Amino acid sequence: MFTLGGKRIRPVLVLMACEMFGRSFRAALPAALAIETFHNFTLVHDDIMDNAPIRRGKETVYKKWDSNIAILAGDTMLSMAYDMMIAVESKRLSDILRLFNKTSIEVCEGQQYDMNFENIPQVSIPQYLEMIRLKTAVLLGASLSIGAIIGGAEPQDEKLLYDIGINMGIAFQLKDDLLDVYGEVEKFGKQEGGDIATNKKTFLYLKALEKAPSQVKAELSQLYNTVLEDNEAKIKRVKEIFDVLGIAGETNIMIEGYYQTLMQNIGLLNVPGESKQPLRDLADKLAHRTF
Ligand code: IPE
Ligand code: IPE
Ligand code: MG
Ligand code: MG
Ligand code: MG
Repeated sequence: MFTLGGKRIRPVLVLMACEMFGRSFRAALPAALAIETFHNFTLVHDDIMDNAPIRRGKETVYKKWDSNIAILAGDTMLSMAYDMMIAVESKRLSDILRLFNKTSIEVCEGQQYDMNFENIPQVSIPQYLEMIRLKTAVLLGASLSIGAIIGGAEPQDEKLLYDIGINMGIAFQLKDDLLDVYGEVEKFGKQEGGDIATNKKTFLYLKALEKAPSQVKAELSQLYNTVLEDNEAKIKRVKEIFDVLGIAGETNIMIEGYYQTLMQNIGLLNVPGESKQPLRDLADKLAHRTF
């Protein structure tokens, strides 16, 4: 399962948070594996929901086999993830499992909002931000929190790390939405313009609606009202609109704001400065990622 690539951000967050409090990363390995397995499960199901043909540069599971196989493979991965999580040696295993469950339910809620929004014309930017907090950011928050619990963090630091993960996750999804339009297919490994094809109400779209003159606004809404067989012309036109309105710049400003907040919060953690550096470096890398 793990030979198929992926950035492995979440397991790295688990291990980093554990080490930050002076315990070896080895203690957090079962949790790191559990979270990455869980994440991969969400991707296998997400690709069915999003009708996505490629992931990590390869055919998606449901395309290669079929949806039933992808549903069952995903379900199996979810159970395997719990098997891995219960192998964690910690006095607070029940807290970890409770957080893992809460997170899993929230991801489902977020995914449901994401799909509901495809068919709702009026979505606000705060509603979008809440949707991505649920579908994406809570898992980064849980990764840091669970690592911190295993490492023996005080509740205050555990809470701070959760919030750092939320800010990182929101920035991460904003960047994912940006790369969906502007990324290089070979690097990003996903179909270009997939979010436009499926009428996803991303920050880019919502910001464009906000900034566009009324005629363009009507055209954009109309384009997002249709589900087409061939999406080439639609993607091209939506991109033109985004370009004229400077939407990539707007998205980057938004992303930058979340990184600033999380960097400030890293400063507040009650651990020696040098222990925070790996997390700072990772955040820096993610802010500038191209895949
Ligand atoms: C993809 O996550 C799903 C999102 C939350 C945007 P990643 O971009 O971390 O996917 P991989 O694991 O690196 O392929
Ligand atoms: C996915 O969001 C979030 C989850 C898998 C829970 P996206 O649908 O944007 O992720 P990608 O772009 O397919 O990786
Ligand atoms: Mg999705
Ligand atoms: Mg998707
Ligand atoms: Mg995406």
